[in-house]
Amino acid sequence: MKQIIGVKVKTRKVEFAQCRTDVLVVGRFSDGGPDEVIGALDKKLGGGIDRLATLGDFTGKPKTHALLYSDGKIAAQRVLLLGLGERKKATLDTLRRAAAAAASRAVDLKVQRIALALHRAFGDGLPAAAMGRAMAEGAYLGSYRYDEYVSENGNGRLGSLEVEIVDSEPTRVQSLAPGVSAGIIVGQAQSYARTMANRPANVIDPPALAQAACDLARTLPSVRCTIFDEKQLRAKGMGGLLAVGSGSQSRPRLILLKYTPTRKPSQEVPTVALVGKAITFDSGGISIKPAQDMDQMKFDKTGGIAVLATIRALAELKLPVNVLGLIPAAENLPSGSSYRPGDIITTYSGKTVEILNTDAEGRMILCDALAYAAEQKCEVIIDIATLTGACMVALGAYKAGLMSNDDDLVARLQQAAQESGESVWRLPTGEEYAEEMKSKIADLKNAGSRWGGACTAASFLQQFIGTAKWAHLDIAGMDVFLKPTEYGCVGGTGFGVRLLTTYLMNLVERK
Ligand code: BES
Ligand code: MN
Ligand code: ZN
Repeated sequence: MKQIIGVKVKTRKVEFAQCRTDVLVVGRFSDGGPDEVIGALDKKLGGGIDRLATLGDFTGKPKTHALLYSDGKIAAQRVLLLGLGERKKATLDTLRRAAAAAASRAVDLKVQRIALALHRAFGDGLPAAAMGRAMAEGAYLGSYRYDEYVSENGNGRLGSLEVEIVDSEPTRVQSLAPGVSAGIIVGQAQSYARTMANRPANVIDPPALAQAACDLARTLPSVRCTIFDEKQLRAKGMGGLLAVGSGSQSRPRLILLKYTPTRKPSQEVPTVALVGKAITFDSGGISIKPAQDMDQMKFDKTGGIAVLATIRALAELKLPVNVLGLIPAAENLPSGSSYRPGDIITTYSGKTVEILNTDAEGRMILCDALAYAAEQKCEVIIDIATLTGACMVALGAYKAGLMSNDDDLVARLQQAAQESGESVWRLPTGEEYAEEMKSKIADLKNAGSRWGGACTAASFLQQFIGTAKWAHLDIAGMDVFLKPTEYGCVGGTGFGVRLLTTYLMNLVERK
């Protein structure tokens, strides 16, 4: 894949005032009090930072910044002060967002090199490795731009950026470093996910996605990629995936990625299946969507892409856990060969489904992949999908819906959400919702009433997971930034990569 911005992240031991760089980045809490690093720099700078504070030009409020030019008084060309907000509200994500804001600013300033000393404001309140990881992730998130198809890189931005995470104390540099290494892997995986997500449906159709998965797997010795094409899907009886894909010239695929670590997983670590919805374009099919914003439906593949990128991160991290990635891929289009409302589809599990709305296609492809995962004896199954507009209505674009049959799995995903900054909120599933999904003329129907659509959809999926511990992440609304944020440009967010990777890292470390 074309590197859109080549970002290099490293650590360096250096006295802050002697750090030769284009921009030295420091953070300040709004209720911070005197800061050792800033104090020492300001002495050399002749009190410019202090003046900003006394004049009220920079108070450390969240999302604010001030840029100072050092005029040769320190080795850095510029000092970027970032507001971190109230100290008691600070989390790892505060640091990640600050690093991202700095990296984004660096791209806009067209500088080559920046140095992050943001962690210093946090003192020893957070583990150093976790801070290193958050800053490295932030560096990738904030510098990300998508201008693959814009001639001459759109804004004339530079093609690369070097981000150094700096500290004057060698022991601190040492304790940041392992986190930085992990953060680089996760950050790059997330950027990969964003680019794949941003690529339009005429570029990424199901066969192209399958090809990209195989290409990726070829670079990862511990990952094996198998593709079921239409013929194999038919032989296996994957009627849900076939039905959804039947309207498009681009034929559906089931992408299977098997990650087998070289380091043997410990016995308590379960085998995990990650199942991601990859509708490369969702027009709604015969139950066609309105024209307004239909272009956004190229992002309906982002659950599948999150799975693909998570597998990449796991393999590069060499995490000792067995993971099976399953990505059902199809394009949902209306045509003479499309599936229709009223059709009764026999799914891979043998359960039949009456189609009431061809726009409820996500569950139709996921049910085949989930039943397959259950058959592979995966003890934990996590699916991730831009499944329902109803989830967006419920939670907005701030948190993903989380439904599950297992409280421990929920707690672990909530923990991972907190650490990764990719938020989730638990929503219910179960009997009363499942009741709505019963059909009079088939085992199930694919759409319920107007109400509780995220929960009825999850309850539909729940009927295909066998005896596994299962969690469902409804990421509708989380897949795309509609306006620029600290995390960079509009478009694909790569949501789920940090969440799932963190869940798996913790699974290995804490059992
Ligand atoms: N991919 C959509 C859900 C979606 C909508 C994601 C908006 C992101 C933004 C999904 O396939 C869909 O169309 N769901 C329907 C289900 C309904 C027909 C039961 C929905 O939510 O309206
Ligand atoms: Mn749909
Ligand atoms: Zn969809």
